[in-house]
Amino acid sequence: MRLPVYPRSLASRTLLTLLLGLAAVQAAGLTIHAFDRIELQRFAALRDLGMRTMSIYRSVVATSPGERSAALHEMDLGPNVSVALSDGPPMAPEATPAPYSGQIRVNMGLVPLRPVNRPRDVEIRGTPWSDAITVAFKFPDVGWLVLRVVQPRPRPWHSPTFLLAFVLMTAAAAALSFWAVRRLTGPVVLLAEAAERLGRDVNAPPLPERGPEEVVRAAVAFNTMAARIRRFVQDRTFLLTAIGHDLRTPITRLKLRAEFIDDDEQRQKFMADLDELDAMVSATLVFGRDTADTEPAVPFDLVALLRTVLDDAADARPDAADRLSFAGPARLTVQGRLLALKRVFANLVGNAVKYGAAARVALGVEGALAIVTIEDDGPGLPPDELERVFEPFYRVEDSRNRETGGTGLGLPIARNILRAHGGDVVLGNRQGGGARATVTLPA
Ligand SMILES: Nc1ncnc2c1ncn2[C@@H]1O[C@H](COP(=O)(O)OP(=O)(O)OP(=O)(O)O)[C@@H](O)[C@H]1O
Ligand SMILES: [Mg+2]
Repeated sequence: MRLPVYPRSLASRTLLTLLLGLAAVQAAGLTIHAFDRIELQRFAALRDLGMRTMSIYRSVVATSPGERSAALHEMDLGPNVSVALSDGPPMAPEATPAPYSGQIRVNMGLVPLRPVNRPRDVEIRGTPWSDAITVAFKFPDVGWLVLRVVQPRPRPWHSPTFLLAFVLMTAAAAALSFWAVRRLTGPVVLLAEAAERLGRDVNAPPLPERGPEEVVRAAVAFNTMAARIRRFVQDRTFLLTAIGHDLRTPITRLKLRAEFIDDDEQRQKFMADLDELDAMVSATLVFGRDTADTEPAVPFDLVALLRTVLDDAADARPDAADRLSFAGPARLTVQGRLLALKRVFANLVGNAVKYGAAARVALGVEGALAIVTIEDDGPGLPPDELERVFEPFYRVEDSRNRETGGTGLGLPIARNILRAHGGDVVLGNRQGGGARATVTLPA
């Protein structure tokens, strides 16, 4: 079953459950207390009723029948009592006996009375739960004394100290629940924040390992996991750079040997292939260095960075300078590894200029994400190549010529760096032709 307003956070859910439980316990406690008090008050009321009526009777019975009316007039009867003298039995036969009439009779016996004055008969009537009770005494000589007593209603809550104690108890229990829930859910929030940080930066500082046992265990487990991920990434990168490094020597040796090939055309082709291989190895080493980079994450202005990248691109390709543009806010501070991100945007803007002869950069903010799009006027990419170009060394066939000669590592490096920041990059085609690279980066 779902409540219409069921809170979303663990803390408020737990708190709500605890408070509902507390309310149920309090309600049960109050009910028990109320029944108890009603019973007690009724007991006291019946005692009072028995003794008061009997006292009035005792005062009147001693006088002679003729003087009784006058005596009653002078008497202070107390509140809620009306009195009358009657000749015959005053009760209608169908009237029901008062509840607890047995108890009333017992309490009447507590008033001392000379045996001659004892009433010949006592009738008690009242409907159950009505608050008026009629008590009639038959005088030993002649006539009846009829008393009608209005009983006070039971007041189960009528105790200021009880109410104060109740409010204080409830407030204290609620405050304690609130405190306990905050304390219990605090570490969960910390853990979520740490996982979020780790997603953006593998070298994020570890969680503090202190507090209650369970929290320490979770923190230790989390830190161990983070260390393993770091080591895994490092091992891979070392492997990559080691291979790149070791390939350099044989390539150099091959180049030397190629010099001895007599056929000029064959030699040139051989050399071109070796140059390409050399470029790939160099790019691999750069890739390794980028990934292993321990450049610290710092806050910086993304707008300034994008403008610098565009200026550099304009310097490198003066012919395309008028097709480079920037649109977006005047400044936007983000947290990240500045040099690595500069490499990302230099690569994307470089691609746009190289393959699309233009680079229109736009910056926007959506929620907690900065979104940078880089659009060009080139041929775009075949749909099935849009993801493949992110594979290392993969290049679309058309661009495999000398003029644009790259190694095909620009996009994988860019994606690698962005994902390490908790962001990403995707390529797409524009409606009117041309490619669009979309970068997301936590702002
Ligand atoms: N804006 C673009 N328009 C058309 N094709 C593109 C665009 N950007 C990238 N590509 C294609 O994706 C391939 C891979 O790009 P990537 O940046 O990874 O490598 P590169 O530019 O060839 O070499 P490098 O960046 O390592 O010097 C490119 O060779 C090109 O074919
Ligand atoms: Mg490139």
